[in-house]
Amino acid sequence: MSTLEIRDLHVSVETKEGPKPILRGVDLTIRSGETHAIMGPNGSGKSTLAYSLAGHPKYQITSGTVTLDGEDVLAMSVDERARAGMFLAMQYPVEVPGVSVSNFLRTAKTAIDGEAPALRSWIKDVNVAMEKLRMDPEFSERSVNEGFSGGEKKRHEILQMELLKPKIAILDETDSGLDVDALRIVSEGVNRVRETSDVGVLLITHYTRILRYIQPDFVHVFVDGRVAEEGGPELAERLENEGYDRFLVPSA
Ligand SMILES: Nc1ncnc2c1ncn2[C@@H]1O[C@H](COP(=O)(O)OP(=O)(O)OP(=O)(O)O)[C@@H](O)[C@H]1O
Ligand SMILES: [Mg+2]
Repeated sequence: MSTLEIRDLHVSVETKEGPKPILRGVDLTIRSGETHAIMGPNGSGKSTLAYSLAGHPKYQITSGTVTLDGEDVLAMSVDERARAGMFLAMQYPVEVPGVSVSNFLRTAKTAIDGEAPALRSWIKDVNVAMEKLRMDPEFSERSVNEGFSGGEKKRHEILQMELLKPKIAILDETDSGLDVDALRIVSEGVNRVRETSDVGVLLITHYTRILRYIQPDFVHVFVDGRVAEEGGPELAERLENEGYDRFLVPSA
């Protein structure tokens, strides 16, 4: 069992005019086996939270704590966080020209496990996972994300999740830009990991569409850099119908 605990997290982003506060006191606890959905308006800081947890250098933690099973996550380097079992599927996955998908996956797996995977079973695992995600085997030899369509990039993120078996997976708008079939295929991938492991999932989304496939245990409304309301799956339906108006402070 693992627990990711975020306490009163304040984060600023570097801008030309100096640091700009984005997260203003985030409290969240994610345990193994739980799925938490975060919904909120554009610019409310959802990706900032995801990047801050992953350790992106652009984001400065100004106060608060993040622990994974009591260990200080904020003191860890990005790769230490990955080795500790944290995984981020990015909203906009980055292209890595010159590094093949197969090389990237094997290197990541080796780094996280501390030893190289047995070659024969690894190749089989990769092929099976790619087949289930309906990814053509030719993707293995292509450079990571280079020239991938939006939906292909998202499948590749979930392929990593399936193979790396994280303790805590943060999925930042994994549903955006997916056609109906891809949404189902990607959701099934996430659900396979949920069923075959104890992963805790933080699922950032704008739409209840994906939540019909990946049922959340908790829904958090994120507004202006903090959690404004929490509830069960019914809260997601309510947000989709009503929008975020009632959470927004009317401007003077
Ligand atoms: N370099 C920067 N300079 C100024 N503002 C920034 C910078 N980087 C991020 N921000 C601001 O931080 C806020 C939060 O951005 P973030 O990407 O976390 O939002 P989000 O909730 O993920 O939005 P979306 O739903 O559109 O993905 C935004 O208002 C954004 O403009
Ligand atoms: Mg975002």
